[in-house]
Amino acid sequence: MRSETDHEVLPAIAERWSPYRFEPRVVEDAKVLRCLEAARWAASSYNDQPWSFMFARRQDGKAFETALSCLLEANQQWAQHAGVLLLTVIRTTFRRNGKPNRVALHDLGAAAAGMALQATAEGLQVHQMAGVNLSRVRQAYRVPEGHEPQTAIAIGYPGEARDADDPLASRDRQPRTRLPLSEQVFAGVWGTSADLVR
Ligand SMILES: Cc1cc2nc3c(=O)[nH]c(=O)nc-3n(C[C@H](O)[C@H](O)[C@H](O)COP(=O)(O)O)c2cc1C
Repeated sequence: MRSETDHEVLPAIAERWSPYRFEPRVVEDAKVLRCLEAARWAASSYNDQPWSFMFARRQDGKAFETALSCLLEANQQWAQHAGVLLLTVIRTTFRRNGKPNRVALHDLGAAAAGMALQATAEGLQVHQMAGVNLSRVRQAYRVPEGHEPQTAIAIGYPGEARDADDPLASRDRQPRTRLPLSEQVFAGVWGTSADLVR
């Protein structure tokens, strides 16, 4: 699936999307490693790299079930078919001086974005989730103080509809839309579109 972007962008950007229908199949370890590596090389404030991932592949059996059980029910429905599940965790203070890192979540987002683009380039897709039982993540994985569970990430091969009225697959057929640049890029006073994007 390729989005109708207003301006030409890198293929992985135009071809990335968040599927609800994954093929229930194992993802090759080499591809998974390249996705994790892409996340690893994200920029971060003071190069602190405040993200970490609790990781499970579908072939890991019980570990995959544990990761799945940390998702809200609506997300479990489709994420059970993913090849890999990740629960994301941020470190809330800088390693260098122990002061609060107010951009840790921003840095996690950058790492997740890199992972998603690498996944697309590998023929995979990523679907990120806010719908996570955070206290369950903390308990299941013994996440220590000073670290906060945040989101989940499913990686896998996008799948085909099971049947003609497969509700998950029909969500995947919805057109992907975005706000125009004029509503996101301002100049002068907040809310005033920059001339370039008007
Ligand atoms: C941080 C974050 C949290 C999200 N949480 C959920 C979620 O809990 N459940 C879900 O089905 N989709 C979730 N999504 C997917 C978004 O709905 C999706 O990215 C958005 O609709 C744009 O679609 P696209 O990724 O295909 O471009 C989340 C995405 C992000 C980045």
